[in-house]
Amino acid sequence: MSVRKIVCYPDPILREKTDLIQDINEEIKKLAEDMLETMYENKGIGLAGPQIGILKKIVTVDISGPEKRENPMVLINPEIYEKQGEVEGEEGCLSFPGFRCNVKRAEKIKVRFLDVDGKEHDISAHELLSVCIQHEVDHLNGRLIIDYAGKLKKTMYEKKLKKIQKRARKR
Ligand code: NI
Repeated sequence: MSVRKIVCYPDPILREKTDLIQDINEEIKKLAEDMLETMYENKGIGLAGPQIGILKKIVTVDISGPEKRENPMVLINPEIYEKQGEVEGEEGCLSFPGFRCNVKRAEKIKVRFLDVDGKEHDISAHELLSVCIQHEVDHLNGRLIIDYAGKLKKTMYEKKLKKIQKRARKR
């Protein structure tokens, strides 16, 4: 297993469309392991392919958290086919260091996906799992949490990023 580098906003890779995975081969299994490790090491509860520069429909999630690591899930070609209700909560993202914003999402979802053995799952999710899966599936469609933020909040974060980048260049 290896920890991969996280792609951060405003890298254009995060806006690209992703491809369906046709064949769950050894390369995909290795990718899934690396993604889980990368997610845990960065203290995340979810990670999507584009966040490590891989434009494929693959997502990892573990809502038990990076310390417990009790419920690792790999969702290949996830498809949310039913949404119900609405919840609003604050979200962060590994591709947005130092940024959080409120996002409105469906309260309950139904999602179909394949696991690393190619087995199909069809689950209902609510609460944190539902929100987390919706966040990660957004990544597969090039949609990011900053798209839910107000214009002012977005401008402020972009300014903050420029300062951070300037400082990094001086070093
Ligand atoms: Ni994210």
